[in-house]
Amino acid sequence: MEGRPILTKRSVASADVRGKRVLCRVDLNVPLEGGAIGDDTRIRSALPTIEWLRDRGARVVLCSHLGRPKGKVVEDLRLAPVAEHLSRLLGQEVIAIPTITGTDAFQAIGSIQDGDIVLLENLRFDPREEKNDPEFAAELAALADLYINDAFGAAHRAHASTEGIAHLLPAYLGLLMQEEINTLGKLLTDPERPFTAIIGGAKVSDKIAVLQNLVTRVDALLIGGGMANTFLLSQGKEVGASLVEEDRVGTAKDILETARQRGVDVLLPDDVVVARDIDAPEGTVKPVGQISADEAIFDIGPDTAQRYADTISTQKTIFWNGPLGVTENPAFSMGTRVVAEAVANSVGFTVVGGGDSAGAIEDLGYTSRIDHISTGGGASLEFLESRTLPGIAAIPDEGEAE
Ligand code: 3PG
Repeated sequence: MEGRPILTKRSVASADVRGKRVLCRVDLNVPLEGGAIGDDTRIRSALPTIEWLRDRGARVVLCSHLGRPKGKVVEDLRLAPVAEHLSRLLGQEVIAIPTITGTDAFQAIGSIQDGDIVLLENLRFDPREEKNDPEFAAELAALADLYINDAFGAAHRAHASTEGIAHLLPAYLGLLMQEEINTLGKLLTDPERPFTAIIGGAKVSDKIAVLQNLVTRVDALLIGGGMANTFLLSQGKEVGASLVEEDRVGTAKDILETARQRGVDVLLPDDVVVARDIDAPEGTVKPVGQISADEAIFDIGPDTAQRYADTISTQKTIFWNGPLGVTENPAFSMGTRVVAEAVANSVGFTVVGGGDSAGAIEDLGYTSRIDHISTGGGASLEFLESRTLPGIAAIPDEGEAE
């Protein structure tokens, strides 16, 4: 992405869709709780493109994965409940087709009218989807005249429905994809300064590439969660029985050194919440440096949380990914809550990526106070690593020949 204009890709806005069968890849991979749909953010985020197509008389053929059925039919992962939910949100029946490709799907699509919407069965019931099998991509392409990719959450996967098919039909990006690319792209190319990234989560290893990339672009880096322990260890601090990745101490040192050379402020915890057990009913606040050998760090401490909140309040652009503590246990959720509040109260441009941070924002009722909550977990991280996402790369540029 670097050095290139952000949106050069062909947009659904330039597609002539009336009367055409339009295969639209969406990411309807939502959490299911006892068979019912939990957080429906991804379904709602897919609505603008679906409505755009419907209102222009397209015959809309939606397709998505749900969960990880590993190439087999898993009854609990059928998309029919998602079709019902979509129908309620759209105020129009979304017909669930119980197959993915083949004669039945072809005939069902053949019988729909302009403005109708159907949803194919879970793409990952077919083992060829994740293998980006050319025959499966061709079977999908046979169902439609045009292809739209609006599944940002799956854009980092080179699957038949996200990559292969884009080479077989006239292909365009949907509206959600464009919004995600524009917003996350701006963080990489043209953020208003000062720009801070708050990166949490359990492991440095999951976030190395994004840390290495962002440290060259931000003014401050706020680190929390289990991975902060590895950074503390790299500075020779005692972290007791905390989760650490010994083999990542060198990486942590390198990131701190890059930050020093570039004048980037790196904030690490100076007080923490410790306990002997992750399920402890409560923790003890201790300054870093006074942790005993049998104690582990499970959250940032209140002084650190306040210091992070103070920094956040002065920033013009903020990106947050990953919890600051073990939020599954309420005894260790204070740091994440304080940071979520500070991000929600910021007058700067705020972007949140990743399920856990987005969930914290949602639980606290702050969703409407965040400028952009990315629908991509892995996809948003890979984008911010400046990696090429196959689902985006496969769409031709505006003006490019088929
Ligand atoms: C996600 O939930 O991040 C996307 O839907 C992609 O799902 P996957 O990690 O199973 O490919």
